[in-house]
Amino acid sequence: MSQDSPLEKQTPDSLMLFGFWYRALPSNQLRRGRLTKAMLLETPLALGRDQSGRAFALRDACPHRGMPLSCGHLKGSEVECSYHGWSFDAHSGQCTAIPSLVADQKLKVDRIYAGSYPCEERDDFVWVYVPDPGPAGAGFTKTPPAPSPAPEVPKFSDRYKLAFLTADLPCSVDHGIIGLMDPAHGPFVHQAWWWRTQSSIHEKQKNFEPIPYGFRMSAHTPSSNSAPYKLLRWYADGDSVTTTIDFVLPNMRSEIIRVGKYWFSSLTTVTPITRSHCRIDVVAAWNIFRWVPFAPELLKFVFAKFVEQDRRTMEEQSEGLKHNPHLMLIDDADRPAKWYFGLKQAMLEMKNTGGEFQHPMTGPVTLRWRS
Ligand code: FES
Ligand SMILES: [Fe+2]
Repeated sequence: MSQDSPLEKQTPDSLMLFGFWYRALPSNQLRRGRLTKAMLLETPLALGRDQSGRAFALRDACPHRGMPLSCGHLKGSEVECSYHGWSFDAHSGQCTAIPSLVADQKLKVDRIYAGSYPCEERDDFVWVYVPDPGPAGAGFTKTPPAPSPAPEVPKFSDRYKLAFLTADLPCSVDHGIIGLMDPAHGPFVHQAWWWRTQSSIHEKQKNFEPIPYGFRMSAHTPSSNSAPYKLLRWYADGDSVTTTIDFVLPNMRSEIIRVGKYWFSSLTTVTPITRSHCRIDVVAAWNIFRWVPFAPELLKFVFAKFVEQDRRTMEEQSEGLKHNPHLMLIDDADRPAKWYFGLKQAMLEMKNTGGEFQHPMTGPVTLRWRS
């Protein structure tokens, strides 16, 4: 246990990582011709869909006098501010009209930009790239494209089902993330007769390895003490079940389960909304049990139960965290949490110094715990 735990240094006023893609909201919350507000990393956004259905994300402040653009109107693929009617291209943010100008006033309208963000849709979610805060462009800079495409749920066949779940968590993104990859809370928080009970607790040993900007729980055969995995093994009819779990900065946990030609895959993100508030989004894709009626409903039910148990736990935990108690991280059960803080620190340092990314893991590690 370290004396000066990064947990105390970083919470509740948690640092947020800029320069990454984040899930802003589920695609079905964006309607054509309507503007919708969202918040990412304490940045207010006005999101919408143009008449061709393409999603866009603007900073929710007019570059003229700061009126939220979400109070304005979407006309085709232009957003008109409700205060003085300036219009902006919804995708680039470029100003297209200033109604107050008279014919001989030479202000170059097209040199003005509303803040805009790269925006892509993946697996029923709208993703927004939140860049590092650059030098203030004072409303005269065009947004550069994102350096990489938005992440997506890994898929291993053409036909599959997709479902998602989302829950608000009243805690910083750090507590959300380390709660997500905490292996020791399972028997206490996620009890259910069909999953596992406290008495099923036993010693586990898992191998981890560094991957770029993250770590991987190496492919393994899942624990035998849960009913769904037993069912999976029966379904697999002799094929071995393997699970791989990755965590990658800034906030992504992906889990891939493969059984012969069948697979189940999920990408869970914990998104900072403000410093003290985050949201967990679980998106799953699978081709397993596709012939079972109500399988998606059943899966959603199971997932919703887990997420609700985590949400309730974190709500209670946030009560305890209000008055800055001393916290500690122990080996080996909290080692993934330590790696997370190490990765985050390395990322911030790389951004500050422009140097290499110093990965906190030097090689494969075996962790042991009881759960
Ligand atoms: S504040 Fe938007 S047009 Fe003036
Ligand atoms: Fe959990």
